[in-house]
Amino acid sequence: MEETRIIYTPEFPQLAYRKIGNGPVIVLLHGFPESGRLWYKVWPLLAKSFTVIVPDFPGTGGSAFIGEDLTVEKMASSVKAILDSEGIDKAVIAGHSMGGYAAIAFAELYKPMVKGLCMLHSLAGADNEERKELRLKSIELIRKGGKDAFVKQMIPNLFSTAFKKQHPDEVSAQISGALELPPESLIAFYNAMINRPDRTSILQGVVFPLQWLIGKEDTIATPEKVTQQSLHANVNFVSVYTDCAHMGMLEKTSILVNDLKSFADYSYSR
Ligand code: MLT
Repeated sequence: MEETRIIYTPEFPQLAYRKIGNGPVIVLLHGFPESGRLWYKVWPLLAKSFTVIVPDFPGTGGSAFIGEDLTVEKMASSVKAILDSEGIDKAVIAGHSMGGYAAIAFAELYKPMVKGLCMLHSLAGADNEERKELRLKSIELIRKGGKDAFVKQMIPNLFSTAFKKQHPDEVSAQISGALELPPESLIAFYNAMINRPDRTSILQGVVFPLQWLIGKEDTIATPEKVTQQSLHANVNFVSVYTDCAHMGMLEKTSILVNDLKSFADYSYSR
C-alpha cells in the first residue's frame, strides 16, 4: 500500500510524494499534464523488490504551485529535496517525457546520486523553434480560458490506436486527471519545457547506464529521435513497444515493469 508523505522546505512550500516497498530505490517522475498518480499501475509491481518514490512535481497532485517561472532544474531540485528528506543518496531515476527532461537535469546536477537513468518516451534534447511556437500558442489558449479544450484535444493523441479502442475508460480517466490541474500549472510546465537546454552532450560522459523505452507510435519522442539519442551514451538498454504510443506505463505495463526491473537490477549490480 502506498503511503503519501509531505515535506516543507524554504524553496518548496509543500511537496508530496508516495513511498512504496523496500529495497534499492527507484524514483518515478511523471510527465505533462499529469501527477505522480500516472504510475499507479507500475508502483505495486515494482514495490515487490524496490523502494519506489513517486513525487508530484510542484503544482500537481499534493505539491504546491511555486510560480509560472518553473524550470526543469527546479523540478530536479524538488526530487533532490525529497530524497534528502528520506536519507537516500543513490537511486535509479526513471522519467516519463517531461519527467525525463527533469530526470536528465537531475543527472547533470546531482550526478553522484544516479545509479541509472531511464528515459521513458523522452529525449535529452531541447524543443526546436516549431515546438516552442506551438507551446506558446497553447499557453495563449489556456490563458484565454481554453484549458479544457486543450486537455481534451491533447490527451487522446498520447495513446496508440489499439489502446484507445480497447481502453476508452483509461483515456477518459487521464483526461479527468489532467482537467484537475489548474491552468497556471500547465503554463508553468510549458515554460519549463520551452526553456530547457539541450542536454544531449552530457550523455557522452555519463558513468551510469541509460535506458530508453520507446513507443512505436509515439509522435513526440519518436522511435527515430530516441534511437538516435541512444547512440551518444556508452551503456544503453533500448526497448521498442508495438501498439504503444507515449504512455507505456499504461499501454504496456507488465513488459515495461519487467524492463525497468532488469535495468535497475543491472544498474545496482555495477
Ligand atoms: C509529456 O508527456 O510530458 C509531454 O508530452 C512532453 C512534451 O510535450 O514535450
